[in-house]
Amino acid sequence: MQSKPDSSCRHSETIGDALARARRSLDNRLEADLLACRALGCGRSWLYAHDRDPIEPLSRQALEALVEQRLAGRPIAQLCGEREFYGRAFRIDEHVLIPRPETELLIDLALSLDLPDRARVCDVGTGSGCIALTLAAERPGWRVTGVDCSAEALAVASDNRIGLGLEGPEFVHGDLLEPLSGRRFDLIVSNPPYVADDDPHLQRGDLRFEPSTALVAGPDGLDVIRRLVDAAFEAITDGGHLLIEHGHDQASQVRPLLRQAGFTRVDSHRDLAGIERVTLGAKRA
Ligand SMILES: C[S@@+](CC[C@H](N)C(=O)[O-])C[C@H]1O[C@@H](n2cnc3c(N)ncnc32)[C@H](O)[C@@H]1O
Repeated sequence: MQSKPDSSCRHSETIGDALARARRSLDNRLEADLLACRALGCGRSWLYAHDRDPIEPLSRQALEALVEQRLAGRPIAQLCGEREFYGRAFRIDEHVLIPRPETELLIDLALSLDLPDRARVCDVGTGSGCIALTLAAERPGWRVTGVDCSAEALAVASDNRIGLGLEGPEFVHGDLLEPLSGRRFDLIVSNPPYVADDDPHLQRGDLRFEPSTALVAGPDGLDVIRRLVDAAFEAITDGGHLLIEHGHDQASQVRPLLRQAGFTRVDSHRDLAGIERVTLGAKRA
């Protein structure tokens, strides 16, 4: 946090002045305030209570740099270094997908399943760990494993585990379920990459700044889901479940993939926007 006002600070600009300039540049009061908090290393109440204090040159430069990056399109969550998911703050950086609100549907569905108290649960493509860590926090008895092919993402997930004060989940590096070969799970969840290689959305908004390994999956976006569904059927115990998040227009393609793999009771669930977003399959007991 910026230290107390320094009498040797020759710069006469106040925190309030710098904040007002950032708000004008961004034309977004909330984002300007969040970036100022990041630059000054403080919370919003401290920021507002100290708006008449002189701003230290380093803090001012840091705020200006953040505003510039925001104007260039960098996601506010990356600039602030965190995003809230299911009521908890997750550290994020450019190596992980920014947790999305629609993924909370997958959490709700997982928590609604009738699973053993000590259920074995695997989150494939764990990224920031937001799914695995949320499930571990909500169901302390579950033994949760998160796997990802990105070592950088796993480092973020491990940091988040420490930040949330959780002992689990374990985080494992590798391709889909390959590093867990021979292990069985009562529930496998995944928010895999599902964007088509040439989807124009990749050139817009936040997606431009997120890792392509977290987003793209072949010509129709289903390459990873196809491989995952088959691997998951092998790894799920009899009576167990698979929950997969997918693109807004992919449910009608994902359901047949689950049925072909052998899953029953296949059904797609709608997110708050009314979009079929998560498909569930059960393995017959
Ligand atoms: C859409 S992101 C989801 C991240 C996080 N679970 C969430 O919901 O915010 C997909 C994640 O899958 C990982 N991934 C992509 N292909 C993979 C593969 N073949 N094996 C394991 N992880 C993979 C990416 O590195 C990325 O972290």
